[in-house]
Amino acid sequence: MGASFSLHLLGSSRRMQQFMQQLPNAVFLVNQEGRIVEANDRLLHVTGYQHEELVSKPFSVVLPYRGSMEQLYRELLKKEAETEQPVEVEWRDKQGKSGKTPAMIMVQQADQPLYMVHLFQLTKEIDYTLSQRFLQKLTNETSLGVVILNEQAKIVEISHMACKLLGIERPQVMNRHIDQVFAGIPEEHRLIKRELLEGVKLHNVATTWTNNKQRYELIVDANTLQDEAGKIVGAYVLFKDITNLRSFEQKIERNERLAMIGQIAAGTAHEIRNPLTSIKGFLQMFLQSFSDNGMMRERSYTEIMLTEINRINSLVSEFLLLSKPRDVQYSLVDLNIIFEEIMPIVESQALLHGIEVKFASRSKLPMVVGDNELLKQVFINICKNGIEAMGGAGTLHISHHIAPEGDKVSIDIRDTGPGIPVYIIDKIFDPFFTTKEEGTGLGLSVCQKIIHDIGGQIRVSSKGYGTTFHILLPYL
Ligand SMILES: Nc1ncnc2c1ncn2[C@@H]1O[C@H](COP(=O)(O)OP(=O)(O)OP(=O)(O)O)[C@@H](O)[C@H]1O
Ligand SMILES: [Mg+2]
Repeated sequence: MGASFSLHLLGSSRRMQQFMQQLPNAVFLVNQEGRIVEANDRLLHVTGYQHEELVSKPFSVVLPYRGSMEQLYRELLKKEAETEQPVEVEWRDKQGKSGKTPAMIMVQQADQPLYMVHLFQLTKEIDYTLSQRFLQKLTNETSLGVVILNEQAKIVEISHMACKLLGIERPQVMNRHIDQVFAGIPEEHRLIKRELLEGVKLHNVATTWTNNKQRYELIVDANTLQDEAGKIVGAYVLFKDITNLRSFEQKIERNERLAMIGQIAAGTAHEIRNPLTSIKGFLQMFLQSFSDNGMMRERSYTEIMLTEINRINSLVSEFLLLSKPRDVQYSLVDLNIIFEEIMPIVESQALLHGIEVKFASRSKLPMVVGDNELLKQVFINICKNGIEAMGGAGTLHISHHIAPEGDKVSIDIRDTGPGIPVYIIDKIFDPFFTTKEEGTGLGLSVCQKIIHDIGGQIRVSSKGYGTTFHILLPYL
């Protein structure tokens, strides 16, 4: 192991400085008196000193060694000869924090000895430039996908999020060609395409990606990387997961749609109702005279017409409910009384469908502030949905609990039906969304409006089997 070198080969001290800067290690020069005469930037960086703070200081500032530099040099030489490896020395930084690192000292024995101290392991850390640190941060970032390709379309960098999203493991794909990595996916469906290297640029392109049943909404940016001469030497792809943002947008869209439907409904509902009232009046007159004249067939037709008109009427009423920013009649409502009044209706419907009803909360419910009639409508609607979902057999459970937030009571209406498939669960509160032949799809949207208006919330949980609607209400 060559432990000495000839300094005159290096020439002037400026050349020496340059030489030291090029070295990958933290390096400093110590003179015969044991004082530091030069230090490279890497040493300054790891120790936290300024150049002028180190120069002419005793070397023990960096290497807390009691003896002289000559003694340290000899000690290391000896150990090195035994182990045939650089020997560890203790070092410390400006803050006084100390550590160990393998070191080698080279000496130039001219008229005055000069020692060049190399601290090896202090290289790696400072080898990171700020941009490398930035890249490191990006690759660990959970919401940002980063993929860097070299000119042969091999992956040279990939972030954790990108791996998760693409369903791959970082060590398995690093330095591998994208055709190998994405062999199972046709080129046109890939997120990382070869054509990127041909200069295809993407900027804020919205796309979706599904992996492991999880659907991601992404915004993608991609571009090539060029060298100084403008030659394409690689490409990068960045994508941001905006799934949450998208569902927020969809909520806004839905609300806007609701508002629009509301306006149309409000405008037309009255116009429909008025003529209906007169039609109904005349039909009732007909009914009377058909009865009086024994015209039973005509009478029964008229009865059917009246029932149908009542149906239209109630539909229009629901419309009006949805649309008008109704002044809610806030009054103190006893939920026990509400349920006492609706249970016969619910139970008779259940009986009709062969369903059992279990009402665990009888007489245990708190007082809430709301509108009596509207609240009844909500509970009936949701119970009716549950009963309809079970079709023929099952149990409808009605219970309640205090919500974890503490300020709301949750009325829980659970059925043992088939559950709500994930792909429609987002839509069930939309007006006119129905999966029933006879349904209007207004039930839940009306319920939601009523409950929102009194500061409550409806939550649904449905995991494959059975569905629970939680109606959360501020209580007293
Ligand atoms: N308990 C439930 N189990 C399974 N699916 C349900 C349940 N409740 C609601 N749904 C689904 O939500 C849809 C919308 O319900 P909503 O009450 O708004 O309308 P509807 O019941 O179809 O019609 P309407 O209430 O106007 O008669 C239903 O068609 C059904 O697909
Ligand atoms: Mg319904």
